[in-house]
Amino acid sequence: MSAEGEVLALEVIEQSLDTSVIGRAAKHPNELWESIDSTNNRAAQLAASGAPEGVLVLARQQTAGRGRHGRVWVTPPDAGIALSVILRPQIALTRLPLVTLATGTAVARAIEASVGVRVGLKWVNDLILNGRKLGGILAEMPGQSLIIGIGINLRFSQSDVPQELVDRIEWLERVVGKPVDPNLVVLELARKLEEAYQMLLSGKVDEIISAWKSYSVTIGQDIETKNGDKVIRGRAVDITTSGALVLQLEDGSTTELYAGEISIRKQDGSYA
Ligand code: BTN
Repeated sequence: MSAEGEVLALEVIEQSLDTSVIGRAAKHPNELWESIDSTNNRAAQLAASGAPEGVLVLARQQTAGRGRHGRVWVTPPDAGIALSVILRPQIALTRLPLVTLATGTAVARAIEASVGVRVGLKWVNDLILNGRKLGGILAEMPGQSLIIGIGINLRFSQSDVPQELVDRIEWLERVVGKPVDPNLVVLELARKLEEAYQMLLSGKVDEIISAWKSYSVTIGQDIETKNGDKVIRGRAVDITTSGALVLQLEDGSTTELYAGEISIRKQDGSYA
């Protein structure tokens, strides 16, 4: 253990891994990188060269981590969990938006089980704690495979956080006030991802949606979204069976959002 706490160690995770798909690909090792550009890039490379589903790629540091909408995702050494998993689901394309919701629930459950903290989910898949961003999910489909990338902030020193993010990001150790073992979090992530994946494969759509809603910090909120120059505002009232967010507009009509980014109205009337 380092002075600051445990760091990711594949042998520690694998010795307790009791899943059958996630992290358990036959004849293909999981990977843990000291430093890598992006675990999603590496997982995509492996998938392109035929790696089976279940292979995990982890990194203690990412030098070119990616977020949604082309944003940068910062993972300084041992400051977070950067994990990608290769999946090859045999499901209808229409079910894919549900993958991201099922993953969000899995991550929330894993954090709850390993750290005892209940996070909120902001559509489509931000992990929110104390109104700040704790982590996010980047699902990508290179070729025939599905890569699920998960980033969770674990430990930062306040002085390392860029000024513009100070009020906007959260990390687990700040909340629990003691070291958090990332290996335990990854172990639970593998377990909960596997449960979510089984739910998806067996078409338990209602279960996926209601589990996601139980962690939602979105439903019931006034939200804003931009589509080019157009700003749409409304109240988030539901999630459809295909994973779209249902908004009730001021005139009482409803509209569905399938992609994009939402901001939630704060008490002062601004949107964040
Ligand atoms: C977001 O909130 O915009 C999604 C962030 C996803 C970050 C993770 S970290 C592991 C994986 N590798 C990446 O480059 N991105 C994802």
